[in-house]
Amino acid sequence: MDTFVIEGGRRLFGRVRINGSKNAALPMLAAALLTDQTVTLRDVPGLADIKNMLRLLGELGCTRTDRTLSVDGEPHETIIQDGVVSLRSTNETLSHARYEIVRTMRASICTLGPMLARRGYARVSMPGGCAIGDRPVDLHLRGLAALGAQITLTAGDITAKAPPGGLVGTTIFLGGTFGSTVLGTANVMSAATLAKGTTIIESAACEPEVVDLANLLNAMGARISGAGSPRIIIQGVAELSGADYTVIPDRIEAGTFMMAAAMTNGDLTLDNCPMDALLAVTYCLQAAGVHVHPLGSLASTVHGLPSSNHRQRTPALTITSGSSDPSRTAENDPMRRSVRVTCDRVLRPVEVTTQPHPGFPTDLQAQLAALLCLADGNSVITERIFPDRFLHVAELSRMGAKVIRQGSTIVISGVRSLVGAPVMASDLRASAGLVLAGMAAEGTTIVNRVYHLDRGYERMEDRLRSLGAAIDRVDEKELAASEAAAA
Ligand code: EPU
Repeated sequence: MDTFVIEGGRRLFGRVRINGSKNAALPMLAAALLTDQTVTLRDVPGLADIKNMLRLLGELGCTRTDRTLSVDGEPHETIIQDGVVSLRSTNETLSHARYEIVRTMRASICTLGPMLARRGYARVSMPGGCAIGDRPVDLHLRGLAALGAQITLTAGDITAKAPPGGLVGTTIFLGGTFGSTVLGTANVMSAATLAKGTTIIESAACEPEVVDLANLLNAMGARISGAGSPRIIIQGVAELSGADYTVIPDRIEAGTFMMAAAMTNGDLTLDNCPMDALLAVTYCLQAAGVHVHPLGSLASTVHGLPSSNHRQRTPALTITSGSSDPSRTAENDPMRRSVRVTCDRVLRPVEVTTQPHPGFPTDLQAQLAALLCLADGNSVITERIFPDRFLHVAELSRMGAKVIRQGSTIVISGVRSLVGAPVMASDLRASAGLVLAGMAAEGTTIVNRVYHLDRGYERMEDRLRSLGAAIDRVDEKELAASEAAAA
């Protein structure tokens, strides 16, 4: 198992490109199951979760149609070169997503809707809970059942069968206790593209990843409107075709780099940054004393920021597709900006509640918690999406953070500095929070189990090192051996 060894106290400085979004790419890859033609996706990040999805799609009858050079030891279906993946569903009889693969990646559930809609049958192992909470799929199943699917649970597998004439459009309410569901909306919206008649999803998730999926599906011939709002309308079509589509940049990766700059008193320029999907984050960071300056002609149009530099009210920018629109450039596409991130010497405390989009994203909560450990005063974070997503708190405390948890709220009393320590990564975003803390801390931090981080950040250590961080990936056993030798 790999471990990161981080020598803290280095300023991050330089330029980094934000990669394509993991959470947009996952349901988009699954959308290849909706057609027998080739779907090509660009800017697909080379992450463990994406490779698992490609492995799963291979098991579900999809073939890679792009020419990939062979890489030693890596199966052809999971190789990602230059971010391009072309998939074609060639064997529609293989419709069982097995537990062995689903348990490694919950997003496997996004294959359920597409297989059901196109093949009339799908069997997907029920995903279990994970480190961030129970993560039920009742809303996915409620939505697919409303389209006419007969759903049963046998031996831990969800089996869904379409009625004899295929799925039928209807009005579906997808709201749950914690708001809507991102992958549930993706599943129901994808399935409804091939249903007869019109489907209306009420209380749909408004996340940019849902918009991006809708844009891909429309490029494949679907008729979807309203994505990005709580009401999505889908007029069913008989068939979908292939498409060639570029995935939006990853807003969570962008937010993580912004916080890395702030915590190391750094100066980073992020290219391909989806600013229009990050308004709650930039608002919060600005309040904490972090400056996020878009470069180029739209620089004065960052709206909602409390800094005096950005008081000007500006026209609303619509969330735009990642598809190849030649008129959009880094200067005029609000989802692909270049931005410079710097910060005041003293970080200020803030109060933040995670919420569905356009609120502050739960996927940046752990990173923000790490940042606020260094703020000058008491900060409060309330988690409204996954109320138990606080496994990073105990690890941050091992580094000298002062954090008290009360239910789904934490109160962080800022300290002058964190102190390096061995810590354990528990999930993807918690790991990112610990890496940030390690880069800002005095001394050496060892982050164990970085395979969690690899699920969502591509070659993170190389990219951070190129920006000035002192961070190395080492094998846990080798590290133990070298420590024993030194003792
Ligand atoms: N929920 C239900 N029933 C359902 C589905 C969800 O009660 O059927 C609840 C969940 O327990 C949670 C809330 O609804 O309290 C929202 O969950 P959601 O379904 O939106 O989460 P998801 O679609 O499974 C995606 C991202 C997560 C991200 C959440 C919330 C992907 C692959 N995953 O998960 O990303 O935290 O939306 O924004 O898109 C990550 O990247 O680290 C990650 C965990």
